[in-house]
Amino acid sequence: MIIKILFLIIFPAYANVISKDRVETQSDCALTESLKEEIQKYQPVVDRIAHEILNGKFKGETYNSLLDFTDKFGARMVGSTNLENAIDFMLEEFKKQGLENVHGEKAEVTHWIRGVERASVLSPYEGNLPILGLGTSVGTPKKGLKAGVVVVESFDELKALPDSEVDGKIVVFVPKWESYGKTVIYRARGAVEAAKKGAVASLIRSITPFSIGSLHTGMQVYDDDVPKIPTASITVEDASRLLRLYRKNETITIKIRMDDYDAGKTTSRNTIGELVGSVYKNTSVVVVSGHLDSWDVGVGAMDDGGGSWISWKAVQYLKAMDLRPKRTIRAILWTGEEFGLLGAKAYETAHKSHEQEEFNFFIESDAGTFEPRGLDFTGNKEAECIFKEVLKLMTPINATEFDSPADGGPDVSWWMKRGFPGASLLNKGEKYFWYHHSAGDSMLVEDTVDLDRGTALFAAAAYVIADLSVDIPKTVTNLGN
Ligand SMILES: *[C@@H]1O[C@H](CO)[C@@H](O)[C@H](O)[C@H]1NC(C)=O
Ligand SMILES: *[C@@H]1O[C@H](CO)[C@@H](O)[C@H](O)[C@H]1NC(C)=O
Ligand SMILES: *[C@@H]1O[C@H](CO)[C@@H](O)[C@H](O)[C@H]1NC(C)=O
Ligand SMILES: [Zn+2]
Repeated sequence: MIIKILFLIIFPAYANVISKDRVETQSDCALTESLKEEIQKYQPVVDRIAHEILNGKFKGETYNSLLDFTDKFGARMVGSTNLENAIDFMLEEFKKQGLENVHGEKAEVTHWIRGVERASVLSPYEGNLPILGLGTSVGTPKKGLKAGVVVVESFDELKALPDSEVDGKIVVFVPKWESYGKTVIYRARGAVEAAKKGAVASLIRSITPFSIGSLHTGMQVYDDDVPKIPTASITVEDASRLLRLYRKNETITIKIRMDDYDAGKTTSRNTIGELVGSVYKNTSVVVVSGHLDSWDVGVGAMDDGGGSWISWKAVQYLKAMDLRPKRTIRAILWTGEEFGLLGAKAYETAHKSHEQEEFNFFIESDAGTFEPRGLDFTGNKEAECIFKEVLKLMTPINATEFDSPADGGPDVSWWMKRGFPGASLLNKGEKYFWYHHSAGDSMLVEDTVDLDRGTALFAAAAYVIADLSVDIPKTVTNLGN
């Protein structure tokens, strides 16, 4: 169970960015000529959407609106007043911008509190050691804890050490950066593996390929039957220095104080607004989505302000252009993504009894909104053929690349795994993890033209899919949870 939950929490979030083993797809599509022609006939409307958003009256508005929002609310961690105020504001904003059926849907979420976090190296040198606690970490005793240090580069290296060498110590993990998908396991499971050997705390090299002394937080998961020990990230610079000292047999002592604690469960909301279909009102819905919650460092401009904005602005602009498709396009700003896709899970549970009729297609952006290249697709072969034809319409946005990741974006992975079709933004996100979950996640990372292009792509793709004469085929299975 833990492994399954862990997989869902840690991996799908970054499938777009890290997937190296993408499925190669052949061009053996057998679309009927009439469907192919039908899709091609959408070119003028896609041209118009692209023109209005890239060069017309909406040019620059996505960025400006996100800038105002992140300035006003800042970081939006689940359980925080900032997040709930931001949700209230967005519900009003959706109404103001013409979205329909605007409402919040409740979700139970984790409420973890980051307290004072401080650490220092006492030997072999004396110095401050900046730390940033990992989500759900327990705190240290009030007066802090002081212990000798063991530095390892892998779980195998830790396991090979005699327990007596780790017992009572602080374990520092300094894994080599391979990719987010491969390296993040040290953040997720470091505390558990260290505690199994008797460690009293664990520190982890920030999960990033690049650093200017930056600290990167993120979720970690305890096991019920292993003692919970405090765990935090340190900078790549400090981590590599500690590793070198340890390899030279220096005796390292560190002092840590963390006042973090779990404040129990609380209620948050998914923020929802629609462009109601001209024919199908509440069936065959096309979802466009991003998550509104963020970490408590930075302002969540990239993760996932950008993804949220290209999603809901797409709906606003279509409405403003008087482009109402046959099916409903539903913008959803998920809550609680960072603590384990909690908002999406609650939504899935609430809609499960009628999900087959209710949903047609799920679109998400949560891997950065840098320069768009196209869309990542998840679904069966028949759906893929239709989707590829739709993607050909996106030349005016220069975003026609097709790819198929393992399981779609994080929040929509609940549905992707069970056979619903969906897509997420494929973008030039090479620098995504430079800023991810750090104080560097600010509007300086976002670009006004890239955001316009992302919005245009989401608006055009959602419109065409929602207006076609056919539903996107699905093969839904019910994996028991
Ligand atoms: C560190 O200690 C180990 C075990 O005593 C020894 O084998 C190794 O050569 C030492 N390394 C250095 C750099 O002194
Ligand atoms: C759609 O709305 C009708 C009328 O309110 C309701 O009876 C039906 O269950 C809804 N269907 C779905 C899939 O939500
Ligand atoms: C279009 O996208 C391709 C690939 O993503 C890129 O190489 C090219 O420079 C882009 N062209 C324009 C005009 O932006
Ligand atoms: Zn995210």
